[in-house]
Amino acid sequence: MIDSQKVAHEELISLIEQAKHTHELKEDEIAALLMSKETQNELFAAADETRKAFVGDGVHLRALIEFSSFCRRDCLYCGLRRSNRNAQRFRMIDAEIIALAEKAKSLGFATVVLQSGEDMFFSAKKLAHIIEELKKLSLVVTLSIGERLLDEYKQLKAAGADRFLLRLETTDEALYEKYDPGMTLFERKRCLNDLRNLGFEVGTGSLVGLPHVTEEMLARDILTYKALDADMVGIGPFIPHGDTPLAGEKAGDVDLTLRMVALTRLMLPEANIPATTALSTLDKEGRKKALMCGANVVMPNVTEESARKKYALYPGKALVADRAEETQGVLKEELAQIGRFIADGEGSRRKTLNKKD
Ligand code: 5AD
Repeated sequence: MIDSQKVAHEELISLIEQAKHTHELKEDEIAALLMSKETQNELFAAADETRKAFVGDGVHLRALIEFSSFCRRDCLYCGLRRSNRNAQRFRMIDAEIIALAEKAKSLGFATVVLQSGEDMFFSAKKLAHIIEELKKLSLVVTLSIGERLLDEYKQLKAAGADRFLLRLETTDEALYEKYDPGMTLFERKRCLNDLRNLGFEVGTGSLVGLPHVTEEMLARDILTYKALDADMVGIGPFIPHGDTPLAGEKAGDVDLTLRMVALTRLMLPEANIPATTALSTLDKEGRKKALMCGANVVMPNVTEESARKKYALYPGKALVADRAEETQGVLKEELAQIGRFIADGEGSRRKTLNKKD
């Protein structure tokens, strides 16, 4: 075991080189790099090179539709938790969801992400109907709706859903079960395995900066995502929400979140990695920074303003979220400044290991 706290500068630099060439690091090595602000520029540069070599300069866009803020869960960090009496609940009707997907399609998006709290009003059958309508528009359909039974996931896949996002949030069992009361890490992993076995492209990820989560735990998150062969990994900082039990806690650190993004890119070189809205919420340069240290996906929001304000996972979210209508202009310009462009095509995860160097 190396002592993560006292690894010499040269040793860290050589670990970065090793990661760039082999995409293999051990838990304590990842943790040492997560802790080291001194070597983060080298880390970001290596992740950026790896991103370029494996997934190129194209940035994939996904149109996010937040269609229900009802949630049966009570996660301590989340503004949509069921105990939050101040949360404003809304639920779109099918026609609204379909109309937003049509809008996304007409704006040029190839993928829509349907996201909600765990709202059981939307039965698998009801969701299947919506998915079928969206598939008629030739959209790639990603779901981000939480935990369901295998049989329900089967129905969603049969209806044509292509991808599924379900973050593990933290892979530390004790903290997972503390922050997500009534839920288990085992069941969460069961969901991800079922989704994978059903043929979904599977996305997962971490909240960075949850109280008591250590760098070693974050390192284990990355190794878990690698073992799972995750197609997508979303990494965002925790942002305290005033109406939750974690209201008084500190927000996640922007640089640590970026180091986590960079190490995820180095360890899972082909994965699709978004520049998360939570990062942009804490830092107005957040999106650009993430895109320059491993990220290759942006998820603009197509939800109408009134609903978006109610979908408050954390404060500030609705204000920063990119508006889909603006992506053609603002985003294009921002990407051009950093030598990137909006990618064509569906942006499925590449599995060819087509490294170009
Ligand atoms: N801060 C940042 N991200 C949050 N999420 C939920 N609550 C918060 C918060 N307070 C994230 C979770 C979830 C995603 C949809 O939103 O990681 O998976």
